[in-house]
Amino acid sequence: MGAECRIRLEDGNFLYTMVIGGCMMKKKNEYSNETKLLHTGEKVDIPSSYPEAMPIYQTSAFVVKDLESLHAMRDNPETAYIYSRAKHPNQDSLSEVLREAENGEAAAVCSSGMASIFAGILAVVESGDHIICADAIYGGTYGMLRDDLSRMGISSSFVDVNDEKAIAAAVRPETKLFVIEITSNPFVVVTDIEKVVKEAKKVKAKVLVDNTFTTPVHIRPLDWGADLVAHSCTKFINGHNDVVAGGIIGSEELIQKAKHNISSLGSVISPFDAWLVLRGTKTLNLRIPRQSENALKVAEALEKHSKVDKVFYPGLKSSPYHELAGHLLNDGYGAMMSFYIPNDTEKVNRFMNNLDIIKFVTTLGGVRTTMSHPNTTSHAPLEQSVKDKMGIHDGLIRLSVGIEKAEDLVADLQQALEKM
Ligand SMILES: Cc1ncc(COP(=O)(O)O)c(C=O)c1O
Repeated sequence: MGAECRIRLEDGNFLYTMVIGGCMMKKKNEYSNETKLLHTGEKVDIPSSYPEAMPIYQTSAFVVKDLESLHAMRDNPETAYIYSRAKHPNQDSLSEVLREAENGEAAAVCSSGMASIFAGILAVVESGDHIICADAIYGGTYGMLRDDLSRMGISSSFVDVNDEKAIAAAVRPETKLFVIEITSNPFVVVTDIEKVVKEAKKVKAKVLVDNTFTTPVHIRPLDWGADLVAHSCTKFINGHNDVVAGGIIGSEELIQKAKHNISSLGSVISPFDAWLVLRGTKTLNLRIPRQSENALKVAEALEKHSKVDKVFYPGLKSSPYHELAGHLLNDGYGAMMSFYIPNDTEKVNRFMNNLDIIKFVTTLGGVRTTMSHPNTTSHAPLEQSVKDKMGIHDGLIRLSVGIEKAEDLVADLQQALEKM
């Protein structure tokens, strides 16, 4: 404890000070107003309770008492908050929810789904390594592997991962990773994860699953033998179309590497965005089964409509993936589907314009039903020949089904198809 003393200043006034170990420290109320304004209100001690909802730790850094504390924190990085690019409480609370949801050992969150895929891939491979990637994969992932990782000396082969012979033909001694989705974009192709894990194990490669479309409500890929699960939390995990965010879940060892990549590349999630996603996760188990139930009703109605050529949805009995999806997925078949209307741009525009509650937006997974257009959005970067081979043209419509009343969705689609 310091002692208080009084010093007479040249102007005759007194300065009250605390003397601590020979140094003088001003009392709080002796600082100028300017200084007080800056140093007041930064900390509220609530000794007897804690907030019911997770607060937003909107700070770029945390105060460290002294060097001894700093060294102690560095020795225990998991419990230490120093700088928010590396670690902040909102990031950690969301990571913990994703870890729990996906039944992983550890998890990390970051600024986007792409950042999570990048951090996850770089946790496994290095220059000289080779990746086997599903040919039915999100366009952004395809572009990253083809254009960006290739420049870093990491090569990729895009194969039909449901075909063991195609996998065997693509495998090389330097193959270290398989990248797949359970249901793909835009044709909702279902990947037989059991087969892929078996093939990967044969060559001691790891498996990264982008579980954005299916979510842990329908499948937990780590339980099926995958090593890493990536999420675009922008989509179903958040569910409200108001955040861009990502997550990666897996073993402690791989997630430590992914965390390093996220911090090093600077793809950290902001405290507010992490907080919003955390709030979204609270209703995940209510939203997803309802969205899937609605999706099945919508898919069945579309399949019967004379102006719809074909519907891609694994919940339909007519889908070649119906049985596999039934084997892999719990609680429904997901909220994503696509369908063909005539490949005629004018008709497509009329259809879009006439939709009333369903809006054209280039995202998915929200509580409101939205539609998108793979040819001009998610799959626009693909070469025309690849799109032709895949069957992606102007008449392909992708639907992300929300939590509205299914009857209203069906009615909206039917009237827009009629006016097409
Ligand atoms: C399946 C899938 N994975 C990853 C991403 C990338 O996510 P983000 O836009 O959050 O980076 C998307 C985006 O649409 C996606 O659909």
